[in-house]
Amino acid sequence: MLSWCIGQRRVAQIQRSFHKMKVTILCLLLTLIMIRSMLGAGEYGTPKQDFDLLHSSLASAGSHHTHNRRILEEVKDADDKKSNTNSNSYESFDISKILVDDEPAEKIDPNKPYSLGPKISDWDEQRREWLEKNKEFPNFVQPNKPRVLLVTGSSPKPCENPVGDHYLLKSIKNKIDYCRIHGIEIFYNLALLDAEMAGFWAKLPLIRKLLLSHPEIEFLWWMDSDAMFTDMVFELPWERYKDYNMVMHGWNEMIYDEKNWIGLNTGSFLLRNNQWSLDMLDTWAPMGPKGKVRDEAGKILTRELKGRPVFEADDQSAMVYILATQREKWGNKVYLENHYYLHGYWGILVDSYEEMIEKYRPGFGDHRWPLVTHFVGCKPCGKFGDYPVERCLKQMDRAYNFGDNQVLQMYGFSHKSLASRKVVKIRNETSNPLEVKDELGLLHPTFKALKV
Ligand SMILES: *[C@@H]1O[C@H](CO)[C@@H](O)[C@H](O)[C@H]1NC(C)=O
Repeated sequence: MLSWCIGQRRVAQIQRSFHKMKVTILCLLLTLIMIRSMLGAGEYGTPKQDFDLLHSSLASAGSHHTHNRRILEEVKDADDKKSNTNSNSYESFDISKILVDDEPAEKIDPNKPYSLGPKISDWDEQRREWLEKNKEFPNFVQPNKPRVLLVTGSSPKPCENPVGDHYLLKSIKNKIDYCRIHGIEIFYNLALLDAEMAGFWAKLPLIRKLLLSHPEIEFLWWMDSDAMFTDMVFELPWERYKDYNMVMHGWNEMIYDEKNWIGLNTGSFLLRNNQWSLDMLDTWAPMGPKGKVRDEAGKILTRELKGRPVFEADDQSAMVYILATQREKWGNKVYLENHYYLHGYWGILVDSYEEMIEKYRPGFGDHRWPLVTHFVGCKPCGKFGDYPVERCLKQMDRAYNFGDNQVLQMYGFSHKSLASRKVVKIRNETSNPLEVKDELGLLHPTFKALKV
């Protein structure tokens, strides 16, 4: 005990003398700087900085402003070193210092009925005229291939844990790959366009704005940031949707008979650019405004829909409710797709990837090789998810690598395993690079499509 106490005192003594030494060195350093500047010796800088300095000293004729400022900066720098914080360290930097607009949102008037924007009732005519005048932007790139804009996005704020941002990056890289291969345009949104429609509902004002600003787009494809393409080959069966305006993964019986809140999924859906869709958005939006409206609507949805937990109104439940209660108005233009996974719940897919690789090949889009694996409930960017974080992140990596293997394969590489970031060569380069066998047919899909 005693020797421990003495040891502690020694340590304290050493620390004190070390601190004194630091102070002495600092004073020496400051003196040196003062002497240098008094003598008018050049500052520590590049020739350009020296020139600028000279220039500004001349301009401020005799003022020692610049010098003083620089001395202050040097002192501050030394202070930083003394207090052991390194201003060059990203690791220790507190990001909240630069997040300027975290003040609470402006008050929302609960008596003002919500609207997505001015009522538009002749969009089909307006758009038709535009397309007539702008023939270089046809809404169909081939007779059966509509021009499609894939829209996704995430919160303007950094994720709660930086690892969430890494998964968002993987997820957008995955979507860029699918879109590039399939000739689909892509829009990534990072702005909350309407504060009232934060959360699940933020996509509605965005979708409306994009439909109206891009008359050349025939279909808008919304996809959540936590959904990833796992079949890079599968092309949507566009012909099947020629008489429909909205396509979601779901089942007619679960919606129209059961009113089941998971009878469809709004994490990945198609919306045609026409008047019908604008009207649908206007019908969809009123349960969205944050606060009292959304809370009260949530109670109605929980009461009316099968299996829905108690929580505020979400866009998916609202869609189920609209279809179930107004089938005659909307039902004939909504295609509930279940021949392939336009959305695929991750829980039932991720453990079968190895089996799929063994038995099948990309291009089916269904249980044999799912088009989309959607990590519903994982919320890697938030504080808490509905599932264990370890399982979520591990499976998101596997889904990403499963999809990415199809991309890497074009270039002769593959992940070492579905769990691995590392890649291995699966093909040796030859001196005839254009003669490589492109097994998935993904390397030049656009050329191939043009030949059809
Ligand atoms: C590539 O070439 C090396 C050396 O000839 C050979 O050992 C290796 O198996 C080849 N790899 C592939 C994937 O063909």
